[in-house]
Amino acid sequence: VEASKASQAGYTLDKRCPVVVKDLRRETRFSAPPLLKDHGVVSGVSVPMIYGEEVYGVLGVHTRSYREFTESEINFLQAIANTVTMAVARREAEEKLHRYAVELERSNRLKELFTDIMRHDLHNPLAVIKGISELLSEEDASEEVTLGLRTINRNATRVLRMIDDASKLAKLGSADGLVFDRKDLWEIMENVVSNLRFRTDEKEMRVVLENKGECYADVHPSIEDVFDNIVSNAVKYGPKKSQITIGIKDSGDCWLVSVKDTGEGVPDEYKEVIFNRFTRMPKKGVKGTGLGLAIAKRVVELHRGKVWVEDNPSGGSVFCVEIPKSNRRNQ
Ligand SMILES: Nc1ncnc2c1ncn2[C@@H]1O[C@H](COP(=O)(O)OP(=O)(O)OP(=O)(O)O)[C@@H](O)[C@H]1O
Ligand SMILES: [Mg+2]
Repeated sequence: VEASKASQAGYTLDKRCPVVVKDLRRETRFSAPPLLKDHGVVSGVSVPMIYGEEVYGVLGVHTRSYREFTESEINFLQAIANTVTMAVARREAEEKLHRYAVELERSNRLKELFTDIMRHDLHNPLAVIKGISELLSEEDASEEVTLGLRTINRNATRVLRMIDDASKLAKLGSADGLVFDRKDLWEIMENVVSNLRFRTDEKEMRVVLENKGECYADVHPSIEDVFDNIVSNAVKYGPKKSQITIGIKDSGDCWLVSVKDTGEGVPDEYKEVIFNRFTRMPKKGVKGTGLGLAIAKRVVELHRGKVWVEDNPSGGSVFCVEIPKSNRRNQ
């Protein structure tokens, strides 16, 4: 039935309330549609089918003889219309959800495919390039060739690390399937610091560990990458012969890990964005991909923790990581 304003259906939708027709032949608010006329309809009532902002139609009841409709009959009809409308709306929402889920799965598969391509099709040839650049003898080579081989090797190493970091980030979509073990955060931190010894020695930096003790938390092995990224940054962005101070403090339900350096610090406008992927502050001479902190943030969030940066009162920055304490018994 047409729902123009000239019809009963259109009029009902326009008024958004039940419309009673005592005698269609004397109706002046709208003209009777041929369908009702052909059936010799005399009386009737129509109710709108509306859910939220969505208009679904009009439900009408008509009689061929004169009939008056009581208020409870009209309410009953409206109740039926509401039930049908809600069922249709729910069905529509379900279908929308289903379409969304299918789309999401498709885009997830695409992401996985991209990660696989990156890991496999880019990683392997690069590993070959790096391997061969190491194998080629530098003994008889000219200075130029030696320099070239070293440059190839350095860059291949760098791109390999970028690929590893990016595929790690892609895999960190959710905590589902991750295994968390009860570990002492100090033990992890000491491991990180000792792995970086070569680089701290090179810059003649001193690493001071403050308030050492046992700090147990339920963590995934990737938490080591978090500490590594943050301490590496302190080494990378801190001045030569400076000090890096690392502490772990009790902050109620959490452990508060802090890594303090005396570098240039992070200005307020960068304090949040440096945790986004590929975001770096303009700085000459210091290389990086801008993924380290993005990975750190994702991993910390998977531990239901927080990571942020503050100013070091005596110049430089303090990177803070809050990790919930272990709620398991000592095993
Ligand atoms: N301790 C720090 N002091 C000053 N600036 C820092 C410090 N740590 C991080 N930043 C700034 O935040 C940016 C993002 O850090 P992030 O670790 O994500 O990337 P990156 O170090 O540039 O590269 P990579 O992915 O190799 O770690 C850095 O480029 C730097 O500008
Ligand atoms: Mg970094």
